[in-house]
Amino acid sequence: MHYRAALNALLLTPAVAACGGSEEQPVVEQIVVREPGDPLLACGGTDAAPDLLAAGRSAFAMCSSCHVAEAGEPSSAGPNLHGVVGRRAGALSDFVYSEALSTSQITWDQTQLDRFLADPSGTVPGTIMVAGAVDDPDRRAAIIAYLANLSE
Ligand code: HEC
Repeated sequence: MHYRAALNALLLTPAVAACGGSEEQPVVEQIVVREPGDPLLACGGTDAAPDLLAAGRSAFAMCSSCHVAEAGEPSSAGPNLHGVVGRRAGALSDFVYSEALSTSQITWDQTQLDRFLADPSGTVPGTIMVAGAVDDPDRRAAIIAYLANLSE
């Protein structure tokens, strides 16, 4: 009994897998939620967690009124989010950021994105991202996984 409960707890615990590249490449963290019975997930790539990425892609619809996420596309009402994971906040030259974000010293990793998306103006007072907060932590994790996957 105890063994089974412990195993379930272990399998339901979100696993943070550090998926690293070479020394030149920033390490991208991904949150991978495992269900009991799922095989252990490999690092990175769309094969790793298709459900999570699909959920993230569809949740990104609430961002896409202001953000594109395709490489090379010009920024629109918000900055292009392709490659945002691992990027310094306020780094794109084709977008005029708020003073608050461009001087925030944030580098967008999993933790910083999670905080910002939960409460943009609470995290970066003065940000001009006035909509797009995501209350549901699972939804934030899915969106971040989707963005991290685009960044690879
Ligand atoms: C109403 C338009 C709008 C919506 C909707 C919106 N954003 Fe934004 N977003 C912005 C603007 C504008 C900025 C620039 C903020 C600043 O300069 O303070 C921004 C900045 C960002 C940044 C920082 C990018 C950088 O280059 O530093 C991230 C990350 C981000 N948004 C993610 C999201 C995500 C994910 C969603 C959906 C859940 C979302 N945004 C929804 C307008 C929006």
